[in-house]
Amino acid sequence: MLMRYWALLFHCFIFHNFVRAESSSSWQTWGPYRPNLYFGVRPQIPESLLMGLMWANGTDKAGLLNSIRDTCEQDEGMRYGWSIYDTRTGGSQALYDEALHLDLSVDFIKTQDGKTWAVKVTGSPRSDAPSDLKTAIIIHVAVEQSTNHPPNILTCGMAGQAEAMCSGDVTGLGQFSLRTVQDVRNKVLGSAVVKSVQVPEAEIWQAKSVFKNHVYDVKNLESDGVGNMHFIQTTFEGAFTITLTYHDSESDPISSDDFQRTMNDLQSSFSTDIQRVFPRSAPFDYEKFTPFTHYLLSNLLGGMGFFHGDSRADLTHAPEYEETEPMFWEAAKQAMARADISTTNATSLVSFVPSRPFFPRGFLWDEGFHLLLVIEWDLDLAVSVLQSWLSLMDDDGWIGREQILGPEARSKVPREFQTQYPHYANPPTLLLLFNVLVSKLANRSKYTGHRSKYMASSQEASALLKKLYPLLSRHYEWFRRTQSGDFGGDYPRPDDTIEGEGYRWRGRTPEHTLTSGLDDYPRANPPHPSELHVDALTWVGASARALHQVAELLGQESDASMYQQHLTNIEHNLDILYWNDAEKVYCDSTTTVGTRNSPKYEHVCHLGYVSLFPLLLGFMDAKHKHLPDILDLLSDTSKLWSPYGLRSLSKTDPNYGKNENYWRGPIWVNINVLAILSLHKIGHEDLKDGETPSEIQMRALSLGSNLRKALVTTVYDGWEATGFAWEQYSDESGEGSRSRAFTGWTADVILVMGLDFGEHISKSTHLKPFHSTAVFGAAVLAVLILAFIIVFRRCLTIAAMRVMQWRNLRHPPGYQQIPVDLDEFGSVSRA
Ligand SMILES: *[C@@H]1O[C@H](CO)[C@@H](O)[C@H](O)[C@H]1NC(C)=O
Ligand SMILES: *[C@@H]1O[C@H](CO)[C@@H](O)[C@H](O)[C@H]1NC(C)=O
Ligand SMILES: *[C@@H]1O[C@H](CO)[C@@H](O)[C@H](O)[C@H]1NC(C)=O
Repeated sequence: MLMRYWALLFHCFIFHNFVRAESSSSWQTWGPYRPNLYFGVRPQIPESLLMGLMWANGTDKAGLLNSIRDTCEQDEGMRYGWSIYDTRTGGSQALYDEALHLDLSVDFIKTQDGKTWAVKVTGSPRSDAPSDLKTAIIIHVAVEQSTNHPPNILTCGMAGQAEAMCSGDVTGLGQFSLRTVQDVRNKVLGSAVVKSVQVPEAEIWQAKSVFKNHVYDVKNLESDGVGNMHFIQTTFEGAFTITLTYHDSESDPISSDDFQRTMNDLQSSFSTDIQRVFPRSAPFDYEKFTPFTHYLLSNLLGGMGFFHGDSRADLTHAPEYEETEPMFWEAAKQAMARADISTTNATSLVSFVPSRPFFPRGFLWDEGFHLLLVIEWDLDLAVSVLQSWLSLMDDDGWIGREQILGPEARSKVPREFQTQYPHYANPPTLLLLFNVLVSKLANRSKYTGHRSKYMASSQEASALLKKLYPLLSRHYEWFRRTQSGDFGGDYPRPDDTIEGEGYRWRGRTPEHTLTSGLDDYPRANPPHPSELHVDALTWVGASARALHQVAELLGQESDASMYQQHLTNIEHNLDILYWNDAEKVYCDSTTTVGTRNSPKYEHVCHLGYVSLFPLLLGFMDAKHKHLPDILDLLSDTSKLWSPYGLRSLSKTDPNYGKNENYWRGPIWVNINVLAILSLHKIGHEDLKDGETPSEIQMRALSLGSNLRKALVTTVYDGWEATGFAWEQYSDESGEGSRSRAFTGWTADVILVMGLDFGEHISKSTHLKPFHSTAVFGAAVLAVLILAFIIVFRRCLTIAAMRVMQWRNLRHPPGYQQIPVDLDEFGSVSRA
């Protein structure tokens, strides 16, 4: 008791005597940046304030302890998600808790000055609820201590029978108040209670277990409001509304009128904004796709998190990690087992997450795809996230591919996957974004998103590019160095190979290449140090292309010509190293034993996404000699084409559907979106007004159009049936599988919903290519039979010839050129 008394005194002392550092508030400061929770707010300030919402069955103690909702889970049988969310204002999340017979609406609004916010929680008993449904709402707030600063303070207590109030002083925020406000119609059982505890810093994020173990069970827990965690618990009967407001010492709390007005404004502006930024075209221009688009964008944006903490890394740089010897994966494994794992200094990251329940943390490979969508909506937001990622880069140019910062993030990751390795790469997707960013800043592609300071001022824009450019080129050089293929002369290479331009993913094992992002996609087996990987080369090529553009823009002539040289060499080697003339496809390569025991350069052909990378990343234009073959592979229903999208691995591959079956058949949205954008680009390449696309361009357009319809329909159907976007989709049934609430890159379908592949193409190819060919063929056949009957004798031979030809008539006559709308992928593809 005495301790607490002193703490209170100390608190007063702090409040009145310390001058805190200026608070650095901005529109980004506050948000639901704890996406692993059903709802949790924190500022983008490390070691500061954490807020969260829990709820439970309010009947009695047993009911409560068995049912607390806290972190997003896969298996609580709950549907939840943001129906509307914009990072600059706030939004509304709906949670349908069937087991507890309760629907919750959690509305969050903040002011742009970063000084106030409020969250309104509305509970409505579901139709099957008992008439006296009892629900406990537990709002928790906590302060972390920051090193090198005066202690952060937070005290909470009751302010009347049902309302609670907290005041605090935290570095980076200054003085602030929080309070709960009850709706007059609420039926509060008993009175609300505030319980406060002091827990070790490392437990502060574990609200549910702290509550269960330290708070709920302790009889007569002293509630004098002192501690680093505070729980405000209210039990309601029936429907209820409770609001929590935050404001700093310079501001008033958001009034309930202002709250409602802002929410109403958001409801209407969000709709208009999304229609302007992501206009949809047929057949997705129906009203039913509006809430779907809102869901995807809102949940991507609402999945943004702020993470802070140390992480685990193996910084031993063991020679085994070069992976240069035969059986290198065994040696690497042993070196890993021996290694001392370092705990890095704490770092911070602002990142979108692939999925709130399953992957609530930053992934390098995913982030580029997230930002491709975000940059259209809010360029400055995308830039700040990009910068946050780049700030994690070390002096060598390495960025850990999975960011597991602090104990909260680690709690979701099995121990063996926590350690990051500086020889592990990941597809450099941030460079894809760079391309788009440059084309927008250079006014080469349109931008209709939120007001952007970079778009508004060319000084800001060029300052930004000057800042980003050295970081991205450092990352590029790091990738080339650490993932280089072996051209030292130990292994045979095809004649005409340009030495040095060939790469292989490190971190290979017989079953996995996790670093490629395509985890279990089959590669050479057993792995071999001479391998060269198709996708790795095209990622380097796409990066070189992006950097070339920026170097030109910044007037860095010698850099620009270096990147151009890289690009030329890469384009050359792509066909020399990887094109397999027998299979008519791009294949990885390895070394096998040839005649008289001499080593032999050999292709490893597993048809699937890897084979498509030259197309996906813009290395095949309409005139490319291998384009027809790649389109054959893509459109072959026995290989990659399914009615729901492109399979990750061909149905004809012996590994199809085997083992983990992660990247061995199921449909992934990010790759399908790249394919659609590439086909669209090829179809519109070099066309002036009124020009007719070439035959191969028509084919690309037809395939792109059909793939777009198939993919969007698949994701839409899954959402309609389950309320979620999914990590991947079955190529057999189209059903979503693996992790749900996957509004990371699955949300990228929005990017293709507005693509126009041409009126006539759209109308005539409503069905999948297989069917459309058949239906079209049948129509032609019917006409021919008619002709056959009418001019029976004379036309017999001609009709027979037509029948032979109809299979080749892939496109209806009368295709008209639509206005060319080169989106920013104009710069991704070879233009
Ligand atoms: C809530 O808890 C009570 C008592 O433990 C139990 O009888 C009741 O079934 C629970 N309600 C729900 C919806 O789980
Ligand atoms: C961690 O921080 C300390 C103190 O700021 C610094 O001396 C040290 O070099 C940092 N370590 C790393 C790995 O950056
Ligand atoms: C892009 O256009 C805007 C307005 O038209 C202009 O203010 C801005 O300076 C331009 N930016 C560049 C990089 O040319």
